[in-house]
Amino acid sequence: RIAGPSGLVLFGVTGDLARKKVMPAIYDLANRGLLPPGFSLVGFARRDWADQDFAQIVHDAVKEHARTEFREEVWKQLAEGFRFVPGDFSDDAAFDQLRRTIEELDQARGTAGNHAFYLSIPPKFFGDVVQQLEEHGLSEGRDGSWRRVVVEKPFGHDLESARELNDALNKVFPSGSVFRIDHYLGKETVQNILALRFANAMFEPIWNANYVDHVQITMAEDIGIGGRAGYYDGIGAARDVIQNHLLQLMALVAMEEPPDFEATALRIEKQKLLGAVSLPPRLDLTTARGQYVEGWSGGVKVAGFHDEEGIPKSSTTETYAAITLHVDNRRWAGVPFYLRHGKRLGRRVTEVAVVFKRAPHLPFHASATEELTQNALVIRIQPDEGLTVRFGSKVPGTSMEIRDVTMDFAYGGSFTESSPEAYERLILDVLLGDPPLFPRHEEVELSWQILDPILDHWARQDARGKARPDDYEAGTWGPASADAMLARDGRTWRRP
Ligand code: BG6
Repeated sequence: RIAGPSGLVLFGVTGDLARKKVMPAIYDLANRGLLPPGFSLVGFARRDWADQDFAQIVHDAVKEHARTEFREEVWKQLAEGFRFVPGDFSDDAAFDQLRRTIEELDQARGTAGNHAFYLSIPPKFFGDVVQQLEEHGLSEGRDGSWRRVVVEKPFGHDLESARELNDALNKVFPSGSVFRIDHYLGKETVQNILALRFANAMFEPIWNANYVDHVQITMAEDIGIGGRAGYYDGIGAARDVIQNHLLQLMALVAMEEPPDFEATALRIEKQKLLGAVSLPPRLDLTTARGQYVEGWSGGVKVAGFHDEEGIPKSSTTETYAAITLHVDNRRWAGVPFYLRHGKRLGRRVTEVAVVFKRAPHLPFHASATEELTQNALVIRIQPDEGLTVRFGSKVPGTSMEIRDVTMDFAYGGSFTESSPEAYERLILDVLLGDPPLFPRHEEVELSWQILDPILDHWARQDARGKARPDDYEAGTWGPASADAMLARDGRTWRRP
């Protein structure tokens, strides 16, 4: 899978994401020989830069963040296709220059009119930029060439704003040309959920309410909000991560088997699943939210959320969120899905734990199984990628005592192949026009539909001064209210 003649236009070149993810991914793709030799990269920003200044920015980003080795000859060939267009989003002359630049590249580099516009910018500008692209004759390819637009989350902050965003994009680009990045879908281990479930015979028969007690989806981070106060305040854990990454994970874990792995079939199943998700009636008892206060992380004293630069003391933005969801279909009736995410937790780990019901009958003396918990299958998304199965085994000795043991699969132990970074895979798929790993607007809207009542509930509590996010110490596993939420159902969170 090597991309054909094409180029990328990057809006938001000075942003963190462009520097840490997009630019390095482009270099890594080139280094792996997956980009066409004449690939072009055009930067667009309100900066007084020449092409060389832009090339220097990309160079620094690549040196710092690329995953593959730096090779001068690869860099040189890639950098010959770099151009920079200075201007802001309302600047007609700049978009005219962008068109001329693209035409020049089509001649000089053989990009053949195929260009993707990567909007690594705040979503409030999406509408303006795509309109400019249309007005300056940039949004449509000619003579069989293609134009695509790539957008980054957040796709709105609620259902209504997500619809507006989607409408603004679809006014200019047909839905097949809009690629929404949810980088979790580009992760090797996330794609492996589908292989695990549907390429094997032994998991699917027990993957339902007859055997599964509940599912826990955890995305824990040890980092705080760093320098991202401007983005994070008012967004919070639920909008930042649960609305997209965790609901996508849940869809892959819980959906039915698609007839094939074409984009349409996959999306239909994900959509059906998201459409079947419901909330329990008492949101005060089935959700929890928190804010980290000063504590310890990796042996270092770290500040609380309210002391982070740029965060007002009055902020009620949650840095931890836990929610309970149900799926109203036969497969999952009565099986709760618990989703949680937090910043400044004990360690960085993302995992899906499918926890099974207890054996219906234990023909042992009660004392033999005192230490036996429920069987579980844990899909370790990161950082220690793999799979763990937890089950009971007899402790060696003369008496019958049964205790939990684990069986592990680790990527490193079974494969020598390295996996590309999520952004590499996704950018390559954009250039190939391969859509399965990109959520469609229906999925985005369904996800907001699930989350909106919870966000409204929290906002109402804030407005009435009735409740606010509960404190949790940095470096711990979240607020006590999250433990209480599971305890009410007679369950506990896993400590990864
Ligand atoms: C992003 C969130 O989507 O994912 C960040 O905006 C978060 O807040 C990041 O830190 C985590 O990504 P990863 O790939 O490191 O788990």
